[in-house]
Amino acid sequence: MNSPDTGRIDPRLVRVITALALTVSLLIMVALPAAYFVAARVAVTARLEARAESAAAIMTEFVTRNPDHWVFENARIRGRLAPFAEAAQPKEWRVLDRAGNVAATLGPPAARPALTVSVPIHDSGVVAGSVQVSRSMQDIVGWTSFLAVIGIALAGGSFIMLRSLPLRLLAESMGRLAKAEAMERERAAQLAQASKLAQLGELATGMAHELNQPLTAITLAAQNALRQLDRGPLEPPAMAARLERILTMARRASTVIDHMRVFGRMGGEANGPVCIAAVVRGARDLLAFKLERHHVRVQDTLAADLPPVLGQAIPLEQVLVNLIANACDAYGEAAEGAAPRLVTIAAAVAGDRLALTVHDAAGGIPPEILPRIFAPFFTTKPVGQGTGLGLSISYGIVNDMGGALTVQSEGGTTIFTVSLPLAPRPGA
Ligand SMILES: Nc1ncnc2c1ncn2[C@@H]1O[C@H](COP(=O)(O)OP(=O)(O)OP(=O)(O)O)[C@@H](O)[C@H]1O
Ligand SMILES: [Mg+2]
Repeated sequence: MNSPDTGRIDPRLVRVITALALTVSLLIMVALPAAYFVAARVAVTARLEARAESAAAIMTEFVTRNPDHWVFENARIRGRLAPFAEAAQPKEWRVLDRAGNVAATLGPPAARPALTVSVPIHDSGVVAGSVQVSRSMQDIVGWTSFLAVIGIALAGGSFIMLRSLPLRLLAESMGRLAKAEAMERERAAQLAQASKLAQLGELATGMAHELNQPLTAITLAAQNALRQLDRGPLEPPAMAARLERILTMARRASTVIDHMRVFGRMGGEANGPVCIAAVVRGARDLLAFKLERHHVRVQDTLAADLPPVLGQAIPLEQVLVNLIANACDAYGEAAEGAAPRLVTIAAAVAGDRLALTVHDAAGGIPPEILPRIFAPFFTTKPVGQGTGLGLSISYGIVNDMGGALTVQSEGGTTIFTVSLPLAPRPGA
């Protein structure tokens, strides 16, 4: 069995599983020979005791008959014990007097290590001596050693099994989990991209308008220059002024296009320091036309020295575009000449976080739908005008950056708060 890839598993878990496998294997290794040794010793002791008690009963009778001389009756004692010596397993028999002196021995000496059982001989209820029987334990020790070798082999095998199997299963399920997580991330990224492209589609009309302005200015400047050339040669300073204007307008047009291209790009960049003022500016630029159409003025009260946050500029811009666009939609289309409606953007630093708020007074969010607005596909807009993904994706984007997106809506006003961690100061 090849060793599982434990790279993904918490090293502490690997250590716990290894320790458990080792404990169980050691138990197996010790239990097999130890259980055999104990069982064999108990069985042998019981057999020896039974034999010794029979011999002691015979000797008790012998001693009762010869209370004074029995100790010197070596041959007769041996004769009485002779039937006990004829066993398959040779044993050493010893008969001792009260003082421990040997009266008779029978059978070959038991090789060490030996197990000895002693049973008293009685004479009228008083201990007169004892019968001792010893048996060599060498065969049992031999079998115990053999079982110990088998135990080691079994323990080795079980250690590999008990450690590898759970780790392999764990590694496999973690691999599957990581794959599912990666797929989930990929799905979320694709959804975010789809919602962004939907936003871009909606913004395209506004962008066309944005582009039209510089293009008209370029055309006018060029026509103007041509007309003047028709009338006679143009002075270099006048010519330079026309060309400069054409260049400025062309740059403005390409800035608009660049911005849309960057905004439409698929995400995937790493977190880094982001200037919130630039993000707000970018979102306002993208929404310029929509703001104009809804007659909404963005009042940005950001301090000039706001510290950068830790995140990604484009996804944050996507969040702001959605929050400001939602406010515009809540205000609805404005009648000609109506007073401008306000979306106020403010930021404040609290501890190691920056709270960016987007405030509107477009009527508020009804309390019954407030708990649902972050759910994917929840929208109150007519079909074709809202996917209902804006807030759920914004929530995910801010969360992924270690921040939080919350809402408060009462008394006809709505405040969305984007709270983000500050970027670590260089050298901090
Ligand atoms: N500032 C707000 N004022 C009132 N209602 C709001 C405001 N912002 C969000 N909502 C409500 O929350 C709903 C969900 O907003 P969300 O941005 O998730 O989706 P959407 O704007 O409907 O669709 P999409 O963002 O895809 O265009 C909106 O349909 C609207 O009912
Ligand atoms: Mg929206």
